[in-house]
Amino acid sequence: MVGMRDEGSTPMLDPRVPGLPLLYEGKVRNIHAVGEDRLLLLASDRLSAFDRVLPMGVPDKGRILSQLSAFWFRRTAHLVPNHLISASWPEIRRLAAIEEPLNQLDGRATLVTRAERIDVECVVRGYLAGSGWLEYQASGTLAGLPLPPGLREGDALPEPAFTPAIKNDRGHDENISVERLAALVGADLARQMETASRALYTNAVRYALTRGMIIADSKFEFGLRDGRLILIDEILTPDSSRFWDAARYQPGSAQVSFDKQPVRDYLTKLGWHGEAPAPNLPAEVIAATTARYHSAYSLITGQPLDD
Ligand SMILES: Nc1ncnc2c1ncn2[C@@H]1O[C@H](COP(=O)(O)OP(=O)(O)OP(=O)(O)O)[C@@H](O)[C@H]1O
Ligand SMILES: [Mg+2]
Repeated sequence: MVGMRDEGSTPMLDPRVPGLPLLYEGKVRNIHAVGEDRLLLLASDRLSAFDRVLPMGVPDKGRILSQLSAFWFRRTAHLVPNHLISASWPEIRRLAAIEEPLNQLDGRATLVTRAERIDVECVVRGYLAGSGWLEYQASGTLAGLPLPPGLREGDALPEPAFTPAIKNDRGHDENISVERLAALVGADLARQMETASRALYTNAVRYALTRGMIIADSKFEFGLRDGRLILIDEILTPDSSRFWDAARYQPGSAQVSFDKQPVRDYLTKLGWHGEAPAPNLPAEVIAATTARYHSAYSLITGQPLDD
Protein backbone atom coordinates (compact mmCIF):
# COMPACT_ATOMS: atom_id res chain seq x y z
CA MET A 1 0.00 0.00 0.00
CA VAL A 2 1.21 3.48 -0.78
CA GLY A 3 3.04 4.95 2.15
CA MET A 4 3.37 1.75 4.14
CA ARG A 5 6.79 0.74 2.88
CA ASP A 6 8.18 4.02 4.15
CA GLU A 7 7.74 3.25 7.77
CA GLY A 8 11.21 2.95 9.16
CA SER A 9 12.99 4.40 6.13
CA THR A 10 15.40 7.18 7.01
CA PRO A 11 14.85 10.78 6.06
CA MET A 12 17.55 12.64 4.15
CA LEU A 13 18.19 15.90 5.92
CA ASP A 14 21.17 17.35 4.11
CA PRO A 15 21.49 16.28 0.45
CA ARG A 16 24.64 17.55 -1.28
CA VAL A 17 26.92 17.01 -4.23
CA PRO A 18 30.53 17.16 -3.02
CA GLY A 19 32.58 19.48 -5.18
CA LEU A 20 29.71 21.60 -6.51
CA PRO A 21 29.50 25.10 -5.01
CA LEU A 22 26.68 25.35 -2.46
CA LEU A 23 24.89 28.69 -2.85
CA TYR A 24 22.12 28.50 -0.32
CA GLU A 25 20.55 26.31 2.32
CA GLY A 26 16.82 27.00 2.44
CA LYS A 27 14.38 25.59 4.91
CA VAL A 28 13.79 22.63 2.61
CA ARG A 29 16.30 22.73 -0.26
CA ASN A 30 20.06 22.89 -0.64
CA ILE A 31 21.01 24.77 -3.78
CA HIS A 32 24.16 24.25 -5.81
CA ALA A 33 25.36 26.36 -8.71
CA VAL A 34 25.98 24.46 -11.94
CA GLY A 35 28.07 26.86 -13.97
CA GLU A 36 26.77 30.41 -14.33
CA ASP A 37 23.34 29.68 -15.68
CA ARG A 38 21.91 26.71 -13.88
CA LEU A 39 21.02 25.62 -10.36
CA LEU A 40 20.75 22.17 -8.85
CA LEU A 41 17.90 22.12 -6.32
CA LEU A 42 18.18 19.24 -3.84
CA ALA A 43 14.98 18.81 -1.86
CA SER A 44 15.65 17.37 1.57
CA ASP A 45 13.13 15.69 3.86
CA ARG A 46 13.33 18.69 6.20
CA LEU A 47 10.09 19.96 7.61
CA SER A 48 9.39 23.33 9.11
CA ALA A 49 6.56 24.40 11.39
CA PHE A 50 5.97 27.85 12.82
CA ASP A 51 8.95 28.99 10.70
CA ARG A 52 11.40 26.68 12.41
CA VAL A 53 13.03 23.60 10.86
CA LEU A 54 12.20 20.58 13.01
CA PRO A 55 14.94 18.18 14.13
CA MET A 56 13.37 15.19 12.38
CA GLY A 57 12.53 14.84 8.71
CA VAL A 58 9.68 13.21 6.85
CA PRO A 59 10.94 10.29 4.72
CA ASP A 60 10.24 10.73 0.98
CA LYS A 61 9.00 14.32 1.34
CA GLY A 62 11.83 15.74 -0.78
CA ARG A 63 11.34 13.24 -3.58
CA ILE A 64 7.60 13.88 -3.59
CA LEU A 65 8.01 17.67 -3.73
CA SER A 66 10.51 17.39 -6.59
CA GLN A 67 8.58 14.89 -8.68
CA LEU A 68 5.21 16.56 -8.12
CA SER A 69 6.62 19.95 -9.12
CA ALA A 70 8.18 18.40 -12.22
CA PHE A 71 4.81 16.83 -13.10
CA TRP A 72 3.12 20.25 -12.95
CA PHE A 73 5.95 22.10 -14.70
CA ARG A 74 5.58 19.73 -17.66
CA ARG A 75 1.77 20.02 -17.63
CA THR A 76 1.73 23.81 -17.52
CA ALA A 77 4.73 24.71 -19.70
CA HIS A 78 2.38 25.72 -22.51
CA LEU A 79 0.76 28.30 -20.20
CA VAL A 80 3.82 29.81 -18.52
CA PRO A 81 7.51 29.19 -19.29
CA ASN A 82 9.32 27.65 -16.32
CA HIS A 83 12.79 26.86 -15.03
CA LEU A 84 12.70 23.05 -15.30
CA ILE A 85 15.54 21.44 -17.23
CA SER A 86 15.44 17.94 -15.77
CA ALA A 87 14.22 16.04 -12.73
CA SER A 88 15.80 12.75 -13.85
CA TRP A 89 18.95 11.98 -11.89
CA PRO A 90 20.79 10.07 -14.66
CA GLU A 91 20.09 12.95 -17.05
CA ILE A 92 21.10 15.58 -14.48
CA ARG A 93 24.37 13.75 -13.82
CA ARG A 94 25.08 13.82 -17.53
CA LEU A 95 24.11 17.48 -18.02
CA ALA A 96 25.98 18.68 -14.94
CA ALA A 97 28.96 16.34 -15.43
CA ILE A 98 28.57 14.76 -11.98
CA GLU A 99 30.74 11.67 -11.91
CA GLU A 100 29.80 10.09 -8.59
CA PRO A 101 26.64 7.95 -8.74
CA LEU A 102 25.11 9.57 -5.61
CA ASN A 103 22.06 7.37 -6.04
CA GLN A 104 20.60 8.71 -2.82
CA LEU A 105 19.83 11.94 -4.72
CA ASP A 106 17.70 10.12 -7.31
CA GLY A 107 14.25 11.70 -7.36
CA ARG A 108 15.04 14.67 -5.16
CA ALA A 109 17.28 16.62 -7.54
CA THR A 110 16.04 19.16 -10.07
CA LEU A 111 18.26 20.95 -12.56
CA VAL A 112 16.84 24.37 -13.38
CA THR A 113 17.58 27.59 -15.22
CA ARG A 114 18.92 30.16 -12.79
CA ALA A 115 16.80 33.28 -12.66
CA GLU A 116 16.94 36.62 -10.93
CA ARG A 117 14.28 36.00 -8.32
CA ILE A 118 11.44 38.47 -7.83
CA ASP A 119 10.93 38.56 -4.07
CA VAL A 120 7.17 38.27 -4.19
CA GLU A 121 4.95 35.30 -3.43
CA CYS A 122 2.11 35.20 -5.94
CA VAL A 123 -0.74 33.60 -4.04
CA VAL A 124 -4.03 32.65 -5.64
CA ARG A 125 -6.90 31.66 -3.37
CA GLY A 126 -10.06 29.93 -4.52
CA TYR A 127 -11.41 29.11 -1.07
CA LEU A 128 -11.56 30.77 2.31
CA ALA A 129 -8.99 29.14 4.62
CA GLY A 130 -6.11 29.79 6.97
CA SER A 131 -5.08 33.41 7.36
CA GLY A 132 -7.72 34.40 4.79
CA TRP A 133 -10.49 32.96 6.96
CA LEU A 134 -9.11 34.71 10.05
CA GLU A 135 -9.03 38.05 8.26
CA TYR A 136 -12.53 37.59 6.82
CA GLN A 137 -13.96 36.91 10.26
CA ALA A 138 -12.30 40.00 11.64
CA SER A 139 -13.02 42.47 8.84
CA GLY A 140 -15.05 40.87 6.04
CA THR A 141 -12.09 41.23 3.67
CA LEU A 142 -9.43 39.05 2.08
CA ALA A 143 -6.01 40.70 1.76
CA GLY A 144 -7.88 43.98 2.15
CA LEU A 145 -10.38 43.26 -0.65
CA PRO A 146 -14.05 43.19 0.31
CA LEU A 147 -15.91 39.87 0.13
CA PRO A 148 -19.66 39.20 0.30
CA PRO A 149 -21.03 38.59 3.81
CA GLY A 150 -22.10 35.16 5.09
CA LEU A 151 -19.18 33.05 3.82
CA ARG A 152 -18.15 30.07 5.94
CA GLU A 153 -14.72 28.60 6.57
CA GLY A 154 -13.76 26.54 3.52
CA ASP A 155 -16.32 28.13 1.19
CA ALA A 156 -15.37 28.76 -2.42
CA LEU A 157 -14.80 32.43 -3.18
CA PRO A 158 -17.03 34.07 -5.81
CA GLU A 159 -13.90 34.09 -7.97
CA PRO A 160 -10.24 33.28 -7.26
CA ALA A 161 -8.38 36.12 -5.55
CA PHE A 162 -4.80 37.12 -6.42
CA THR A 163 -3.14 38.14 -3.12
CA PRO A 164 0.58 38.80 -3.60
CA ALA A 165 2.90 39.03 -0.60
CA ILE A 166 6.43 40.27 -0.13
CA LYS A 167 8.91 37.53 0.72
CA ASN A 168 10.32 38.24 4.11
CA ASP A 169 13.45 36.41 5.28
CA ARG A 170 12.31 36.57 8.87
CA GLY A 171 9.35 34.38 8.14
CA HIS A 172 5.98 36.07 7.94
CA ASP A 173 5.17 37.32 4.48
CA GLU A 174 3.36 40.61 4.15
CA ASN A 175 0.33 40.96 1.87
CA ILE A 176 0.58 43.76 -0.66
CA SER A 177 -1.99 45.25 -3.01
CA VAL A 178 -1.70 44.79 -6.77
CA GLU A 179 -1.04 48.54 -6.96
CA ARG A 180 1.93 48.14 -4.62
CA LEU A 181 3.11 45.16 -6.68
CA ALA A 182 2.97 47.34 -9.81
CA ALA A 183 4.95 50.06 -8.02
CA LEU A 184 7.58 47.49 -7.00
CA VAL A 185 8.14 45.58 -10.25
CA GLY A 186 6.49 47.78 -12.89
CA ALA A 187 2.93 47.65 -14.20
CA ASP A 188 3.70 45.38 -17.12
CA LEU A 189 5.51 42.73 -15.08
CA ALA A 190 2.88 42.90 -12.32
CA ARG A 191 0.17 42.22 -14.87
CA GLN A 192 2.13 39.30 -16.32
CA MET A 193 2.62 37.82 -12.84
CA GLU A 194 -1.06 38.06 -12.03
CA THR A 195 -2.17 36.65 -15.37
CA ALA A 196 0.30 33.76 -15.16
CA SER A 197 -0.61 32.94 -11.54
CA ARG A 198 -4.32 32.94 -12.27
CA ALA A 199 -3.88 30.79 -15.39
CA LEU A 200 -1.75 28.26 -13.47
CA TYR A 201 -4.19 28.09 -10.58
CA THR A 202 -7.32 27.80 -12.73
CA ASN A 203 -5.79 25.15 -14.94
CA ALA A 204 -4.49 23.13 -12.00
CA VAL A 205 -7.78 23.36 -10.09
CA ARG A 206 -9.70 22.07 -13.08
CA TYR A 207 -7.34 19.11 -13.54
CA ALA A 208 -7.12 18.30 -9.81
CA LEU A 209 -10.92 18.17 -9.48
CA THR A 210 -11.00 15.38 -12.06
CA ARG A 211 -8.68 13.49 -9.69
CA GLY A 212 -10.75 14.12 -6.56
CA MET A 213 -8.61 16.91 -5.18
CA ILE A 214 -9.46 20.50 -4.35
CA ILE A 215 -6.59 22.99 -4.57
CA ALA A 216 -7.81 25.61 -2.12
CA ASP A 217 -4.92 28.00 -2.73
CA SER A 218 -1.41 28.02 -4.09
CA LYS A 219 1.73 30.12 -4.14
CA PHE A 220 3.96 30.78 -7.15
CA GLU A 221 7.35 32.43 -7.47
CA PHE A 222 8.77 34.05 -10.57
CA GLY A 223 12.13 35.21 -11.78
CA LEU A 224 13.61 37.04 -14.72
CA ARG A 225 15.75 35.34 -17.28
CA ASP A 226 17.09 37.41 -20.19
CA GLY A 227 14.43 39.99 -19.36
CA ARG A 228 11.58 37.47 -19.56
CA LEU A 229 9.35 36.22 -16.78
CA ILE A 230 9.73 32.54 -15.85
CA LEU A 231 8.13 30.41 -13.18
CA ILE A 232 10.65 29.13 -10.60
CA ASP A 233 10.90 27.27 -7.27
CA GLU A 234 8.34 24.52 -6.62
CA ILE A 235 4.75 24.54 -7.83
CA LEU A 236 1.49 22.95 -6.74
CA THR A 237 2.98 20.82 -3.96
CA PRO A 238 1.61 20.24 -0.45
CA ASP A 239 4.23 22.73 0.81
CA SER A 240 3.11 25.52 -1.51
CA SER A 241 -0.62 24.81 -1.68
CA ARG A 242 -3.61 23.66 0.32
CA PHE A 243 -4.85 20.35 -1.05
CA TRP A 244 -8.19 19.04 0.16
CA ASP A 245 -9.84 15.70 -0.45
CA ALA A 246 -12.89 16.54 -2.60
CA ALA A 247 -14.76 13.50 -1.26
CA ARG A 248 -14.51 14.82 2.30
CA TYR A 249 -15.01 18.51 1.51
CA GLN A 250 -17.41 20.09 3.95
CA PRO A 251 -17.50 23.88 4.13
CA GLY A 252 -18.35 25.32 7.51
CA SER A 253 -15.33 23.84 9.26
CA ALA A 254 -11.58 23.38 8.81
CA GLN A 255 -10.79 20.89 6.01
CA VAL A 256 -8.46 17.93 6.14
CA SER A 257 -5.41 18.77 4.03
CA PHE A 258 -2.74 16.60 2.41
CA ASP A 259 0.27 18.11 4.10
CA LYS A 260 2.04 18.47 7.40
CA GLN A 261 -1.25 18.81 9.24
CA PRO A 262 -0.53 15.80 11.52
CA VAL A 263 2.62 17.65 12.64
CA ARG A 264 0.82 20.95 13.16
CA ASP A 265 -1.94 19.19 15.12
CA TYR A 266 0.59 17.40 17.31
CA LEU A 267 2.60 20.57 18.00
CA THR A 268 -0.53 22.57 18.73
CA LYS A 269 -1.63 19.91 21.22
CA LEU A 270 1.79 20.21 22.87
CA GLY A 271 1.31 23.97 23.05
CA TRP A 272 4.50 24.61 21.02
CA HIS A 273 4.53 27.70 18.80
CA GLY A 274 8.04 27.91 17.45
CA GLU A 275 10.25 28.59 20.49
CA ALA A 276 13.68 26.93 20.61
CA PRO A 277 14.30 24.07 21.01
CA ALA A 278 11.85 22.34 18.69
CA PRO A 279 10.36 19.15 20.14
CA ASN A 280 10.88 15.67 18.71
CA LEU A 281 8.02 14.13 16.82
CA PRO A 282 6.66 10.65 17.59
CA ALA A 283 7.19 8.01 14.87
CA GLU A 284 3.46 7.71 14.19
CA VAL A 285 3.13 11.45 13.51
CA ILE A 286 5.98 11.21 11.02
CA ALA A 287 4.52 8.10 9.38
CA ALA A 288 1.12 9.81 9.07
CA THR A 289 2.78 12.81 7.43
CA THR A 290 4.73 10.68 4.94
CA ALA A 291 1.48 8.92 4.08
CA ARG A 292 -0.25 12.27 3.41
CA TYR A 293 2.49 13.37 1.02
CA HIS A 294 2.30 10.02 -0.79
CA SER A 295 -1.48 10.28 -1.08
CA ALA A 296 -1.23 13.77 -2.54
CA TYR A 297 1.29 12.56 -5.11
CA SER A 298 -0.61 9.47 -6.20
CA LEU A 299 -3.99 11.18 -6.24
CA ILE A 300 -2.73 13.98 -8.48
CA THR A 301 -0.47 12.01 -10.81
CA GLY A 302 -2.51 8.81 -10.82
CA GLN A 303 0.59 6.79 -9.94
CA PRO A 304 2.48 5.88 -6.80
CA LEU A 305 5.91 7.43 -6.39
CA ASP A 306 8.64 5.24 -7.95
CA ASP A 307 10.91 3.40 -5.59
N1 LIG B 1 15.26 29.06 -10.88
C1 LIG B 1 15.57 29.69 -9.74
N2 LIG B 1 16.41 30.75 -9.74
C2 LIG B 1 16.73 31.40 -8.59
N3 LIG B 1 16.28 31.06 -7.37
C3 LIG B 1 15.44 30.00 -7.29
C4 LIG B 1 15.04 29.26 -8.45
N4 LIG B 1 14.20 28.28 -8.06
C5 LIG B 1 14.08 28.40 -6.72
N5 LIG B 1 14.81 29.42 -6.24
C6 LIG B 1 14.95 29.81 -4.83
O1 LIG B 1 15.57 28.71 -4.17
C7 LIG B 1 15.08 28.57 -2.83
C8 LIG B 1 14.51 27.17 -2.63
O2 LIG B 1 14.85 26.68 -1.37
P1 LIG B 1 13.77 26.37 -0.26
O3 LIG B 1 12.51 25.90 -0.88
O4 LIG B 1 14.40 25.55 0.78
O5 LIG B 1 13.61 27.83 0.25
P2 LIG B 1 12.79 28.32 1.47
O6 LIG B 1 13.42 28.05 2.75
O7 LIG B 1 11.36 28.01 1.18
O8 LIG B 1 13.12 29.78 1.26
P3 LIG B 1 12.28 30.89 0.81
O9 LIG B 1 11.66 31.31 2.10
O10 LIG B 1 13.30 31.79 0.22
O11 LIG B 1 11.27 30.33 -0.19
C9 LIG B 1 14.04 29.64 -2.65
O12 LIG B 1 14.62 30.76 -2.03
C10 LIG B 1 13.64 29.98 -4.09
O13 LIG B 1 13.15 31.28 -4.21
MG1 LIG C 1 10.43 27.15 -0.53
